Amino acid sequence: MMLENMRLDRFTRDSRVVFFTGAGISAESGIATFRDPDGHWSKYDPMKLASQAGFQEDPELVLGWYADRREAIRKAKPNAAHISISNFQKLFRHSIVITQNVDGLHERAGNKSIYELHGNIHRHKCNGCGKQVELSNKKMRMLNYCECGGKIRPDVVWFGESLPLQMINEAFETVSSCDLMFTIGTSAQIYPAAQLPFEAKSKGAYVIEINPEPTPFSPKADLSIHDDAGSALPKFYEEIHAQLN
Ligand code: OAD
Repeated sequence: MMLENMRLDRFTRDSRVVFFTGAGISAESGIATFRDPDGHWSKYDPMKLASQAGFQEDPELVLGWYADRREAIRKAKPNAAHISISNFQKLFRHSIVITQNVDGLHERAGNKSIYELHGNIHRHKCNGCGKQVELSNKKMRMLNYCECGGKIRPDVVWFGESLPLQMINEAFETVSSCDLMFTIGTSAQIYPAAQLPFEAKSKGAYVIEINPEPTPFSPKADLSIHDDAGSALPKFYEEIHAQLN
């Protein structure tokens, strides 16, 4: 029983629930995280692959890295944690997903109301005018240009870039009025996203963290579960479902 210390009588089907996720929720789908020992940033320099300066210096290197990741993601499937969120969303009608992930697995698992704070690896846009552009799979590895002359790039947020303003504002508004928040598989190091669980907690939400490792948010969490998301989240679902019905 994971929830023996958690007073479930404070939650109802009308409770407002937020699922805040990072790369760790997709780890069990076989998608590499960033800061784990075998993660991307243990092998590559993030400034070369995920920054404007890196793209200007060697666009083909950046596009190749994103194409490799995109192919791995296409072969992967949503795991038990993504699917569990869909089940939770049937239970809690006011629930949203705020993710730092660009892999699109929440949508493929049937999750609803998804805020993709760092963009989506399957989309492309012009680095100059910002227009969204469709590219065939074949073209994704090469450098393409927009009508305006700008280079085409993945529609993701790079280091040093701002998050979509309206989306991050709405994310902060939503977490500041939620009743229950799950923060799942994020190292809670990259701001402004990492501020969201702190914001929820400071406004009175009950915040549950699921991560095999402790994070800077762990001391603030109401409940910190050191387990894999694909194992912990379905157990939470079973317990909460049984209590609410
Ligand atoms: P990180 O790679 O920083 O953190 C992944 C977290 O997932 C770690 O804390 C792991 O302990 C945890 N984890 C690993 N396996 C897990 C599992 N099976 N279940 C649950 N948790 C698990 O990834 P993020 O926090 O998402 O940004 O990183 C935030 C941002 O930094 C990313 O969006 C990306 C990155 O640089 C950009 O590219 C702009």
